[in-house]
Parts: sequence; structure tokens; C-alpha cells
Amino acid sequence: MNKGPVYILGIESSCDETSAAVTRDGVILSNVVAGQEVHARYGGVVPELASRAHQQQIIPVVTAALQEANLPKSALGAIAFTRGPGLIGSLLVGTSFAKAMSLALDIPLIEVNHMQAHVIANFAARENEVLRQPGFPFLCLTVSGGHTQLVLVHDYLDMEIIGQTRDDAAGEAFDKVAKMLGLPYPGGPLVDQWAQKGDGRRYPFPHPFAPGLDFSFSGLKTAVLYFLQREKQKDPDFLSTQLADVCASVQYTIVNMLLEKIEMAIQQTGIREIALAGGVSANSGLREAIKSKAAVDGWKVHVPPFEYCTDNAGMIAVFAHYKFDAGIFCGQEVSPLARFPFRRPEPFSE
Ligand code: KG4
Ligand code: ZN
Repeated sequence: MNKGPVYILGIESSCDETSAAVTRDGVILSNVVAGQEVHARYGGVVPELASRAHQQQIIPVVTAALQEANLPKSALGAIAFTRGPGLIGSLLVGTSFAKAMSLALDIPLIEVNHMQAHVIANFAARENEVLRQPGFPFLCLTVSGGHTQLVLVHDYLDMEIIGQTRDDAAGEAFDKVAKMLGLPYPGGPLVDQWAQKGDGRRYPFPHPFAPGLDFSFSGLKTAVLYFLQREKQKDPDFLSTQLADVCASVQYTIVNMLLEKIEMAIQQTGIREIALAGGVSANSGLREAIKSKAAVDGWKVHVPPFEYCTDNAGMIAVFAHYKFDAGIFCGQEVSPLARFPFRRPEPFSE
């Protein structure tokens, strides 16, 4: 019996991006993302303002996603939403909206872990896009403003965290250093732009220690702070003349810290297939470094298009497609989780 295609509406509202996407059998038909300008003047995301902006944006964003997919609500087969991790007030907007819509349309509800969805963004594609398919098992480095994780991906629904940051996330390190350099929020992309004109080996910064496959970035921020204070005392124009070299040196350090742990994970697991995920995977230094490692050391590397790296509902709907196929749904009693670590599902764990 031909059951016909399954359309899923995905909702993402974990931080400061309100997003809705529609997939047909896991293929992206629309992926609408509305950012929130309101935070720029505060130099970081203000949770209370984020929740309000989600509340204002969610209906227009969902309407736009359905329109772009050219799909009536009545054709939807399931509603998926980010349950966590994230800002609780922001998550509540997407969760409540998804619950209400699933009740109104009488269709199943699928909860999604935002961090697992970042990994699955490696499988996200529109019909006309080349489908990049990492082969299982692979390693995924998820680097965003809120998280830094090394994930061993056994299958779509079977992943384990093998390393993570003990303090700041990689994107947070970029943003905090950018702030010290007088660059506007979020400064990561600007550090990247300046770095392209500078020399990464000019100012060597220490690599803060973290055991095993874990990461630590907070020491780097402190090292840069003291370094800048010292240099500005010697030369008040230091920043304006050396910005490119400072940005390049910070980027070089962060990228090397990430690569060190990928290399260690490759040694420990024997897996040489590496995927990137999260906003920081847009970083040109990281992309170049990992690609040259691929060429020299024979790694197979996957980097999703930028649209699926930063927070977006496309990755939520694609992940939900695999849950739908496995028949994994949730009830109306579900509530969002600010912290939401994931582990291997029971039958798989050793
Ligand atoms: O995944 P994402 O959009 O949102 C979170 O879930 O956090 O990641 C945003 C983070 C920010 O910290 C931003 O500065 C960083 O990604 N980022 C970059 C670059 N583009 C975005 N960091 C360094 N270089 C870039 N090119
Ligand atoms: Zn994210």
C-alpha cells in the first residue's frame, strides 16, 4: 500500500533564532529563520527579550515556512520542536506552539534534542542540493555559541558525547575575545574576517588544559585579556595597528585546540570520517585546517552548508523524520529542558 509522503513541520526556538521548516520524507522544502536584532546593543542574548521576540515571530515564521513549501497545514503528518537544551523561556514558546498545533491538527508530536539535530544537519538537503552522507560511524565536532561537543555517531538515533567543554563554548570564546577587541556581538565572524588579513603565529597564546577529549576555553579569554592590557600599556595604538594579527593568533589557537582533540578522538576510535556542525563551523581557519588534515592524513571530512550549521528548524525537521520512521513520538505532558544531555539509547548501550 502506498502511504504517500510524510510532511513534517519543525520548530526551533532554543536561543535567539525563531525558525520553522517543512520536510517531505526528510528532504527540506522550506527553512525560514528570523533573527533577533534586539540583542546586539546588549552585547549578548538577553533571555527575557528573546522569549518575547519568539512570541512575536513564531506565527509569521511558521506561516512563511508553510507558504514556501506550498503546503496546507492539513497535509502535515507531524510537528517537531526543540525540547532543549537552550533558554527555558525561549524553548517554552516553541514547545507550547508545537503542542497546540499537534492538538489542533490531531497529528503526532516529536521532541528533538537541539544538539543531536546539529549533528544530523550533515544529512540536511533540499531536492536540488547534493546530499552529503557521512557513513556510520563518524565523529562530529559540534561547535556553536553555546556548545562544544565531540560526538561519536553510530546511527541517526544513536549517538554519544565523547568530549565536551568544561567551561566556555568555542563560539563563546570567539565572541568574548571579540568583545575585548571592541568588535560588535556576535564577534566570531568578525574575528574570522580580520584573521584572514593577519598572521596566526604572531602572538602565541597558551592552550588551557582539559583532560581527555574535553575542552576548556575560559583560560584563553583571560590570557588574551592580560596580553591586551600589557600591550596597550606599552603602545596605546596597539589594537588599531595589530587587530588583524591578534584576531589571527586567537583563531589559530582555538582552531588548534579543536584539532588536537579531533586527532585524539581519531586515535582512540580509529574512525577517520569527521563531520562539523554548529555556527563556528563557518570559521574559515577551522575549515581550511580540517580540509588540509583531510588531504594530508586521509580524513574524510563533511561540512554542511552554512544555512544548516547555524540554528535552523531544517535540522529539527530532518532529525524528526528519522524519529517518525522509528515511531518515536512524545505526549502532551512534555516540557522543555534547559539542560538536555543525550546518551546512547538503551538497547545499544554496552
Ligand atoms: O550554532 P549557532 O548559530 O548558535 C548557537 O547555537 O550558539 O552559533 C553561533 C556562534 C556564535 O558564537 C558566532 O560568533 C559563531 O557561532 N560564529 C563564528 C563564525 N560564524 C559564526 N565563529 C567564528 N568564525 C566564524 N566565521
Ligand atoms: Zn545551536
